[in-house]
Amino acid sequence: MKQIVISAGDAITAKIIEQEGFGGIWISGFEASARLGLADNGSLTMTEMLNVARPIINSVRIPVYVDVDTGYGNLTRTVAEFEAIGAAGICVEDNLPTLKQNSLWGSKIPLMDYKEFGNKIKIRRKRIKIMARTEALIRGYGFKEAKKRLLYYQECGADMLVPHARHIDQIISDLSWAKVPCVIIPTKMPECCNAGLFTMGYDMVVWANHTERVKIKAVREALQTLKKEDNALSIESNLSATLDDMRNLTPEAT
Ligand code: SPV
Ligand code: MG
Repeated sequence: MKQIVISAGDAITAKIIEQEGFGGIWISGFEASARLGLADNGSLTMTEMLNVARPIINSVRIPVYVDVDTGYGNLTRTVAEFEAIGAAGICVEDNLPTLKQNSLWGSKIPLMDYKEFGNKIKIRRKRIKIMARTEALIRGYGFKEAKKRLLYYQECGADMLVPHARHIDQIISDLSWAKVPCVIIPTKMPECCNAGLFTMGYDMVVWANHTERVKIKAVREALQTLKKEDNALSIESNLSATLDDMRNLTPEAT
C-alpha cells in the first residue's frame, strides 16, 4: 500500500497527522536530537528515542516508523525494544557509527562495509519491519554502489529499502529489481510530488522534518508579534490554535 508518512516528535503532532488522514508517522533522529539540543551525529541514545516514541505510539493507530540512526550499538536489542513498544518499523542506516553525521549536509565519508551491514540487519523479529537505508548516493558513491548495497540488504532480510538521496539526480528511478517496498525521504527535494514518486515505484514517501520546521517559523513569528504589540491578541486571533483545539488533542480527564 502506498503511504505518505509525516514526522512527529510528540503526541499532539502525531494526532494531527492522523486526523488529517496521512498513512503513518516518522520519528526523526534529526528532530529528536535537535529538540534535546543535540547535533544529529549519533549522540542521541536509544533510551531517549524510546521515550519520544512511546507516547506517540500510544496516541495513534497509524503505523509509527522510527529512525534509529546506526542502531545504537546493538541492533538486536534495538529491534527488541522498539518492537516491545509497538513501533511498526525502524530505519537503520549504513553509516559507520563513529562517523555518523546528518545526511543533509557534508560530503563523502566512508560507509560501513556492505556485507557487515547486511549481517547486522539479520535479526529475528515478530512484526516490526527493518528499513535498511543506504547513504551511498548521498555520500557520492553512485547508483551502482547503492544498488549493490540495497540488493544485498534485501538478500539479508530487509523488509523495506531506503535509497537515501538529497538531490533529484540521486533518485533511483528504476526499482524493478526491488522485491520489497522502497521508501524515499525527499527532505531536500520539496518539489517532488507524492503521486510522481509512487508512480516511479516508491511505496512510502517520508516528509521527515517539515512539521518541526513549520513550528519553528510559527513560534518565531508569534514571539516577534508579542514583542511588537505587547499583548497576545493578534496571536490569539491570527496565529494560534484555540485552547479548545489543544484540549481536544488530549484525552478526557477522568
Ligand atoms: C531524519 O529525519 O533524521 C532523517 C531523514 O534521517 S533526513 O534528515 O532527511 O536525512
Ligand atoms: Mg536521521
